[in-house]
Amino acid sequence: MSRIVILTGAGISAESGLGTFRDKDGLWTKYDLNEVATPEGFARNPDLVHEFYNARRANCRTAQPNAAHEALAQLQSDHTGRVTIITQNVDDLHERGGATDVIHMHGELFRALCAACDHRWVAPPEMSPDHLCPSCKATATRPDIVWFGEMPYHMDDIYEHLTEADLFVAIGTSGNVYPAAGFAAEASAAGVETLELNLEPSAVAGTFDAARFGPATDVVPMWVTEVLERTGQV
Ligand code: OAD
Repeated sequence: MSRIVILTGAGISAESGLGTFRDKDGLWTKYDLNEVATPEGFARNPDLVHEFYNARRANCRTAQPNAAHEALAQLQSDHTGRVTIITQNVDDLHERGGATDVIHMHGELFRALCAACDHRWVAPPEMSPDHLCPSCKATATRPDIVWFGEMPYHMDDIYEHLTEADLFVAIGTSGNVYPAAGFAAEASAAGVETLELNLEPSAVAGTFDAARFGPATDVVPMWVTEVLERTGQV
């Protein structure tokens, strides 16, 4: 089991105090995703969209990585083979937990993007529609977040990682949003072993070879210890 590719979703950050999207009290029960997470919503009301992401940025700044983020970072540093983390999360808790090889397929809360020239930079704590792009000076500043209807980032790289893996593990994701929801099937078709670690079975639970259910801070460190023991790293 040398190459491990891990997909994470909002469930891994839930115990750090960042809300998930579709659970009871999830973000999409309080906000209309069409208004705050689509290019059309942003065109209609950029103030509202910036307000939504400014609040999430502030929330994220006070959150701390949990035992699941830290266990994955330990796996990356101690496992003999490569461990790649693909995350749908826009928070920076993997990095603050010590992870190094992280692909943010849905963008990053702490990055800003100019819709006019594609320049990217570190987002200020509060973004607003009248901010100028530091490169082209247009007022087309937006969060560097992939919204519904947009193409997730790094897809060529991701499919390469998936098909070259020995093991694919999905952690804390409901399996409702494609293309990420299709990664287990994609990996399986390439002969890759698949495992789901989640609070409860996801919408695509049937596509995994195996599963373990429970809070991420329990099941992820337990699984990481097993992998490292099995490969003689502890
Ligand atoms: P969801 O909110 O859809 O799913 C969260 C998953 O985490 C569910 O399966 C929960 O059962 C599980 N979960 C909750 N608490 C957990 C815990 N303590 N430990 C382990 N698992 C737990 O979030 P995502 O699947 O990440 O995209 O959502 C995917 C995408 O949809 C997001 O990246 C976002 C959203 O709309 C955009 O905004 C573009």
